Parts: sequence; structure tokens; C-alpha cells
Amino acid sequence: MEVSRRCSNILGSLTLEISARVKAMKAEGHDVIGFGAGEPDFGTPLWVVDAAKEALDKGLTRYTPASGTPELKRAICDRYRRKYGLDYDVAQVVVSNGAKHSLFNVFQAILNPGDEVIVPAPYWLSYPEIVKMADGVPVAVETTEAEAFKLSPRALREAVTPRTKAVIINNPSNPTGSVYTREELREIMDAALDCGLCAVADDIYEELVYDGAEMVCIPTLGDRYRENTIVVSGASKTYAMTGWRIGYSLSPHEIAKAMGNFQSHSTSNPNSIAQYATIAALNGPDEGIIRMRAAFDERRRFMHARINGIDGLGCLLPSGAFYMMMNISGILGREWEGRRILGSMDFAMALLEAQKVAVVPGICFGADDYVRMSYAVSMHNIERGLDRIEAFCAGLK
Ligand SMILES: Cc1ncc(COP(=O)(O)O)c(C=O)c1O
Repeated sequence: MEVSRRCSNILGSLTLEISARVKAMKAEGHDVIGFGAGEPDFGTPLWVVDAAKEALDKGLTRYTPASGTPELKRAICDRYRRKYGLDYDVAQVVVSNGAKHSLFNVFQAILNPGDEVIVPAPYWLSYPEIVKMADGVPVAVETTEAEAFKLSPRALREAVTPRTKAVIINNPSNPTGSVYTREELREIMDAALDCGLCAVADDIYEELVYDGAEMVCIPTLGDRYRENTIVVSGASKTYAMTGWRIGYSLSPHEIAKAMGNFQSHSTSNPNSIAQYATIAALNGPDEGIIRMRAAFDERRRFMHARINGIDGLGCLLPSGAFYMMMNISGILGREWEGRRILGSMDFAMALLEAQKVAVVPGICFGADDYVRMSYAVSMHNIERGLDRIEAFCAGLK
């Protein structure tokens, strides 16, 4: 049987593949330290788990409206009002099976075949594939470490063609940990709006910002920004709920309606119990977030200092999310057991083999001089892992 052209064109998720490989190695008894984690290493808060149990006991196990329950949509709107002072009505909210699914729906709703989407690189590896699945064309626009991996309005304008429809702004960013200031976002958005683009704001890491950095939700810049922005976020990272699969989007009414219709014929509603649990997460205390943020903050500083002390490696101090890009350009060209390390994949594979340390090759994110290091890893393992990375680098010829 023949695979369709659309599916042949889609790459598997390498980060999920690497996590699976690490799990398999661990199951075989290897002491692997993984810096690949894309999820908080914390449990879902107890009050959220209790709300799920209560929903089960109440028998809330049937279909809900396809785009989410009115109660959850209200809780989402309330949260945007509390946190950002933004007024959305429930008809603008679509609840999906994780933020990844929300993004999938967004691009199905806004793209026609051949429409281009600007994807600042290094990018989260699913963006190009999600755009392609909607028959769109992802256009990677390089950013540099010197500009803290942030998209500049100039680079955005240069990448625009008559086919460009949208730009993705992932703030805070996976994989770089960069956080845009209000002024930077305004300048990028001014350029985008001048060029007739809309923005897809992936704010999934919105609660994970450090050093007093402000999380700016693009619609807070003003009405004309809000009218041309679709905001995506979800429960996964903020409430340590990756397995529950709840994401959501806030869009102009016509887009929300289109997404809701699309979802009604694809997945129908997201899991009913997870939706009830998410209401408890959104309305509950911030304790879980505060505890997680403090732990990530401490690890982030530690890793930054350690990495910059290793010959051949370096990294910026990220301001958000739980990732950092480790610059390996000082290592490239060196040899491990007669094998020359020419790119991030060679580095990652040699490190895994030599020291049982897993990192994600930057080539997955369009940045081959880097590997992504997650600090959603215990401090104990961060220390052991960095000792091994140091030993690995010292042993290269
Ligand atoms: C930038 C970014 N957006 C979206 C997602 C998807 O989140 P979810 O697990 O809610 O689908 C992730 C998950 O890794 C992510 O890193």
C-alpha cells in the first residue's frame, strides 16, 4: 500500500524518539542521564488530581461539546482576565488535546495550500511539520546567539513574500529559553502587521519566566495586535499535566468557529475528566507553579555556570521555559574514538554512547552548532550529567 504524499513529507518527532531510546536504555539497566525532557519533573498538583477523581465519581464521562465544556472555557477566560487584563468571550476559546493539537487546528483554520509561515529558528521541531500538514510552507528565519535568539523586525520583513500568511512567536521559547520584552514584541508585531501577517503566539511556557522577566501576551499590546493574533497555551507545562492532554486557543470569533468545526469532525471533545481537572488547575492556588519555577530557576543558574566552565562549551542564561541551547561549536572537528564530531547529531550520539548522557541535537531545531539541554531534571542528575559531559569533552582529541 502506498503512503500519501502528505504523510511521506512529514518527519517523525526526533525528541520523542530520543526520549523513547533513553527509556529503553534505562529499562535495560543502563544508568542514563537524560537532558532531553520536554516536561516538568513534578507531579500534577493534588487538588487537580482530586478534581479528576471527583469528576469520575460524578460520572462526568460522556461526550462534552466538541470544542470544550462551557465551564472550562469560562475558567480560561477568567484566567486571561486575571493574569493579563484581557477580555475574551467563551466563543473565542477552543479546547483541544494539548497545545500541539491546538496549533494543528490553528494552521488548518488559517492556511491555504502554498501559504508561507515564518518560523524563527531555532524552533520547536513540530512547527514546520504542523504547517506542512496544513499544506503550508514553513520558512525558517535564522536568529543568532548574539541577538539572544530573538527574531528581529528586519529579519521578519526580509523573509516576507506575497505568500506569507503568519509568523509564529513562541515566547518563552523552546528550545532557546528566550523571552521577548514588550518593546521587542511590539516592534516585531508592527512589522508583521505592516506586511499583512497574523501572529500565532505559542505561550505554552508563559508561567516559566525568571529574573523578573515580564511575560507579555501579544494581545495586551492593543486592539489591532489582538485582532491579528491567535494565542495558544495549555495545562501541560504550567500545571505539570503533560499526560492529561489539554491545550487551548483564543482567537478572533471566525477562526475559533472554524477550528471548533474542524475539531468536531476529527477528535471531538478532549477527554472529559481532563477538562474538569483543568478547571481546578486554572482556578487553584499557584503553589505548584511557584515551587516548580523556583526549582527550575536554581537549576538554570547552576547549569549556566557549569557549562560555561567547560572547555569548548558555552550557553546563554535563558530567561524562560526549561531549556538552554548549549553551544558546541568549540567541540566540532574534534574526535571521539576515531570518529570526528562534525555536527550536533554526532555529538549527541557519541555522548550517549561514551557517557550515557542524552541531549537533543540542535539540528532538530534548525541549529546544528548546538544541543538542547533541558533542566526539567533533578539537581542530582544535572550535577552527575555535567560531570560526565565535562569528562567527555576532556577526552576528545
Ligand atoms: C513550544 C511548544 N509548544 C507546544 C507544545 C505542546 O504542548 P502539549 O503537550 O500541550 O501538546 C510543546 C511541548 O513540548 C512545546 O514545547
